[in-house]
Amino acid sequence: MTDKQKFYITTPIYYVNDKPHIGHAYTTILADVLARYHRSIGADTFFLTGLDEHGQKVQEAAEVKEISPQEHCDNMAPEFLKLWDQLHIKYDDFIRTTEKRHELVVREVLQKVYDSGDIYHGEYGGFYCVGCERFYTEKELDAGNCPQHQKPLEYVAEKNYFFKMSKYQQRLIDYINDNPEFIQPNHRRNEVLGFLRQDLADLCISRPKSRMSWGIELPFDKDYVTYVWFDALLNYVTGPGYASDDEKFARWWPADYHLIGKDILTTHAVYWPTMLFAAGISQPKTIFAHGWWLMGDSKMSKSLGNIINPLDLIDQFGVDPVRYYLIREMVLGQDANFTMESFVKRYNSDLANDFGNLLSRVSKLIGKNFDGCIPDAGTMTPAECAVTQSATRIGDTVRGLIEKMRLNEAIEETMQFIRSVNRYMEQNAPWKLVREDKAAAGRVLYTAADALRIGAVLLHPVMPSRTMVVLKILGVEGSDLKWGGLKPGTKLKEHEALFPRIDLKKHKQPQPGPKEKNMENVITIDDFAKVQLKTAEVLAVEKVEGADRLLKLQIKFGTEQRQIVAGIAQFYTPEELIGKFIVVVYNLQPVKIRGIESRGMLLAAKKGKKLSLIILDKAEVGSGASIS
Ligand code: MSP
Repeated sequence: MTDKQKFYITTPIYYVNDKPHIGHAYTTILADVLARYHRSIGADTFFLTGLDEHGQKVQEAAEVKEISPQEHCDNMAPEFLKLWDQLHIKYDDFIRTTEKRHELVVREVLQKVYDSGDIYHGEYGGFYCVGCERFYTEKELDAGNCPQHQKPLEYVAEKNYFFKMSKYQQRLIDYINDNPEFIQPNHRRNEVLGFLRQDLADLCISRPKSRMSWGIELPFDKDYVTYVWFDALLNYVTGPGYASDDEKFARWWPADYHLIGKDILTTHAVYWPTMLFAAGISQPKTIFAHGWWLMGDSKMSKSLGNIINPLDLIDQFGVDPVRYYLIREMVLGQDANFTMESFVKRYNSDLANDFGNLLSRVSKLIGKNFDGCIPDAGTMTPAECAVTQSATRIGDTVRGLIEKMRLNEAIEETMQFIRSVNRYMEQNAPWKLVREDKAAAGRVLYTAADALRIGAVLLHPVMPSRTMVVLKILGVEGSDLKWGGLKPGTKLKEHEALFPRIDLKKHKQPQPGPKEKNMENVITIDDFAKVQLKTAEVLAVEKVEGADRLLKLQIKFGTEQRQIVAGIAQFYTPEELIGKFIVVVYNLQPVKIRGIESRGMLLAAKKGKKLSLIILDKAEVGSGASIS
């Protein structure tokens, strides 16, 4: 149950390695809907969202663009802000982890936990996934690949600082068992309890600057930066003023909801609570993990190239229909499938036919028969009593469902109510009634119009702009759910169709179907012909200072000499490579890696922690030979 006095809700903070997509948009819309709903019922609401700007992923994205990580973050932040603006996200605070206020909190918490003896220095080896920004143990790998990204992972061994997460294992298990609402939905709670049946390892919370320097420096060792998750999770306490504004922090913390996607459950339901135990901060009330938006059978993700750009949808159909679809279609906790057909079907049936049609009928009939002014309510007959009764119940029904995070059902109940009002209109036919009994027709139209107002108020958190249009047409403001909110005599405002029908044939599918998706990796001979592979002789090799994984190679194609940088230092010594004939992608665009120019890419076979370069068995063809 939520606290009626205050409501603090968070989204994950998003990585800025790439532009925002529908997955990010979804969680943020969901949080916005919940925040708007709680504001509308009078709760004091704080909605925090923001960006996760540190870590290897972001550093690498900046390297590719040959700009500094900070510059990269500063370029990306407006992309997110613009999208939130376009999606009508009304957040109260937007946090960026590179902000000073956050750095202070991270350093304060680290020092506190270090001073209490829960952080120690040690040696560590593991399989690091840059995509997830976390280590995996050999057991967790899926045939040598990252279980989330299905990419082979590199084994990394180094000296680091560790947080004694294992010390808090039993306390966490007890806490989860004692607080059934702590991790939701229940199947995710069971998943976490299952995970906690194995021994919990300590958490590596630093990165040596020599390998990865983009992060918050540890307060007790200048040679290290903070591990990105230890840094990022703390945003949830930075936002409400931890260590800077005690009064504000006491007002908002603990968070009522941390909304997350299921892929970041372990970090939120295991790392975060144990960090809070160690720092002496109370636990959030609920960590709620939603499912994924799928396309076909796959997660929508950048690496699969099947992402829907939310801006394209907004451009085509408007913001509110997109928000409506996302919230109506996903059963919270389960995955949902995004298809254009279901989008258009949902739009046409719920928004154009049911909701839009009720407004259009009511306003046309009032316009034609009552000079556009809301008629008197008159004396209710049993038919009106039935409408008012369901109007009185609907607010409580919706509230109960929202408190149980059954948002799709809350919307469906509201639409059922709207449909029942449309039926009431048909049964009482005010367009006919007006000829025999104008007052009776007025009564029916008042009833339908006030029911429409209540529907608009209930749908307002989901579709803030178009429901506001409805309320303005009806000449009312505010979120009052009490029956009789319309003032007879009020002149209705002129308006256009609220939700014009969509013709699916006119709109192209923005997504590949499952068959096309499987074909994504197939290329034609023409595609292959674009890649020029050539043999090259390795003339000289040296290590790149400050980068454990990189080697700088001077190579020769016939008479042409070039330099390339390759991440193979853990697999080959410079001496082993000199004089070898390797295979290189010759026509690759030059890039700078760690500020060093690299022209071309060598070919290697990689599996788990092993790597073998493709080296010619006979050097007869010499360097510069084309490979076909
Ligand atoms: N930076 C971390 C979160 C740190 S929070 C302290 C992160 N960022 S992310 O940008 O990769 O992803 C953020 C959220 O987007 C996750 O909750 C993830 O589940 C969600 N989504 C990404 N793709 C998604 C879908 N296709 N569908 C629904 N949500 C998905 O993880």
